Amino acid sequence: MEEKKEALLIEELLEKLTLEEKVGMIHGAGLFRTEGVERLGIPPLFMSDGPMGVRAEFADNEWRSVGTTDDFVSYMPCNSAIASTWNPEMAALAGEVLGAEARGRGKDVILAPGINIKRSPLCGRNFEYMSEDPRLIEELVVPMIKGIQKNDVAACVKHFAANSQETERLWVDTIVDERTLEEIYFPGFKAAVEKGGVFSIMGAYNLLNGEHCCTSKSLLNKVLREDWNFDGTVISDWGGVHDTKLAAESALDIEMDVTYNFDKHNMAQPLIEKIKAGEISEACVDEKVRNILRMMLRLHMIGEKKEHRSAGAYNTEMHRRNLLNAARESVILLKNEQELLPLDEKKVKKIAVIGQNAAAIHSNGGGSAEIKALYEISPLMGIKKLLGGNAKVYYAPGYVIPGKENKSEINWQADSTKHLEEEKNQATEPQTQNAAKKEQDYKEEAIRLAKECDTVIFVGGLNHDYDLEGQDRADMKLPYGQDELLEALLEVNPNMITVIYAGSPVKMPWVNKAKAIVWSYYAGMEGGTAIAEVLFGRVNPSGKLAETMIQESSQCPAHFIGSYAKKDKVEYKEGVMVGYRYYDTQNTPVNFCFGHGLSYTQFAYSKLDVKREENGCKATFYLKNSGEREGSEVVQLYVKPKDSAQGRPMHELKAFTKVFLKPGEEKKIEIMLDSRDFTYYDMKGHEFVVEPCEYEIQIGASSRDIRLSESILIG
Ligand code: BGC
Repeated sequence: MEEKKEALLIEELLEKLTLEEKVGMIHGAGLFRTEGVERLGIPPLFMSDGPMGVRAEFADNEWRSVGTTDDFVSYMPCNSAIASTWNPEMAALAGEVLGAEARGRGKDVILAPGINIKRSPLCGRNFEYMSEDPRLIEELVVPMIKGIQKNDVAACVKHFAANSQETERLWVDTIVDERTLEEIYFPGFKAAVEKGGVFSIMGAYNLLNGEHCCTSKSLLNKVLREDWNFDGTVISDWGGVHDTKLAAESALDIEMDVTYNFDKHNMAQPLIEKIKAGEISEACVDEKVRNILRMMLRLHMIGEKKEHRSAGAYNTEMHRRNLLNAARESVILLKNEQELLPLDEKKVKKIAVIGQNAAAIHSNGGGSAEIKALYEISPLMGIKKLLGGNAKVYYAPGYVIPGKENKSEINWQADSTKHLEEEKNQATEPQTQNAAKKEQDYKEEAIRLAKECDTVIFVGGLNHDYDLEGQDRADMKLPYGQDELLEALLEVNPNMITVIYAGSPVKMPWVNKAKAIVWSYYAGMEGGTAIAEVLFGRVNPSGKLAETMIQESSQCPAHFIGSYAKKDKVEYKEGVMVGYRYYDTQNTPVNFCFGHGLSYTQFAYSKLDVKREENGCKATFYLKNSGEREGSEVVQLYVKPKDSAQGRPMHELKAFTKVFLKPGEEKKIEIMLDSRDFTYYDMKGHEFVVEPCEYEIQIGASSRDIRLSESILIG
């Protein structure tokens, strides 16, 4: 009934709209908005980046933020961090915060979440994405979308599809076979549409099998609209449309661009001209306008429920609390020999914190994911505010970040007082020091501190000069001579705690020497608080890796079976062998495997029982906290076909659940699998089929730490 009424309203509006008005609705009329039709009560559609919070307010027709002070917002943990929680409830909470903040800032569409597959550790935008595994993405993206859209704001899941490199991103042709698309690159998007009910989706810049994604008939008309029944709005990536006729005839609805000749966009004046010349049918435009109006109805921007539209809110206390909880759950304890961690906050007296990422601010970088954070607690501040005044915390940067040093070492007040000219000259002296000497000085200072202090924490990693939109990293090496520094520090203090704060895996030549390693992705405004709480045991870590930490990028099959970061064409010849699907199948030596993450307590797995059910099977087992602290474990279920004839990966993640247990507590866990969990995609029949064979049901704490297993026959 409701639907019928809405469809009627859409048709009524369509009839009243002129061609020019309709065209105004389907292309950017400002950098982040379309045109409304005031006389009919149709508002413009306001959009904003992005995945880590609502981006600063931009001028309508210039790439310049307006520079006001009312657009500081809550800074979210990046999607890689959210994925490391392996907790759908956290994804939902993060979504709720993002949606409420977007609505609070008056937006209709938030250009997030990004869910491209992490095909290579070198992709510059990996930090914006969740995982190398489609099932994990699927389980997290659905609650995240629902959380966003609860606030009458559309999520815009991006970038559809197979957009896993930044090099030549506008023109690279990505060659992927059907099976690989269906098994690896599509499931996240399909779930976003079918289970998440996402209102909008963003086309990717790249070409897929010869067609630009934003105007691809096979991708948009066939897969998205026909196969998945998507009736929401398809928005192009900014500048991703290159042809008027293709744009009109494809299932794209809104063309956005980075230029400000709005009338010259493909779907603006050129489209009107082609329609008037009879080259393109006006019906194409009507279909797009229908999709947009349908989304507006869903967002309560028009129609009867307009008065009840959610107002949203930004910078609330609750948002900060939720983001802190998400950050806490995202921190991953990679290694903890001799139980060096947690540190005892009562015992540490003189503590050295070394490394630029201890003090760095990351929220303002990364590309379109940059935001103006209301605040950002650095790890150093997190540590200091946790310890209070009874411990002495000494900070040393340890290494030099070229171009970012000493830009303004002189305080403006000193600068403004002429009689301090002499001191001023002295203060500027470091600026002229030669770079090598400075590096040496920093290193020496750090080593001296490491020797003098009872506790040493290194916080290094990457920053948004490396984890950055528009460029891929050349290799996985830590920049700024950090490896050498780490080796030297570990030499003088073998008990040093190593914290890596980054958006994608790095080489760790010192991995065997470092006894305790903590990993954090860019974890939002409270990231530093969360890290400190983990280091000092106020929080028991429960994050797990949503991607494999290989030793070096040459191990990645995208690089030597397929191709990566090529300019004209990249071939995904590794097929479905992405991430652990390849590494575990080949038993590749890795630093830390998929799903890995330690706790300060221990978990015992027992009594697995797998029963065949009509449509799959039911796995039951027990999980016990056998240690002394309360904590959460992410139990993972992998399905391993035992004698596949279909070139399938050794095993695949099919389910997981995060379980909280008090010391000594035991819980019975039940996981249902259905026939889908045993399928592969058959390219001849163009469908998923169950391969009849024996399957091992594996229950583990990571992809390489399988604790229980049992075989069953399926098919
Ligand atoms: C990015 C998108 C972003 C858009 C708008 C593009 O360059 O690829 O992810 O949403 O710009 O800023």
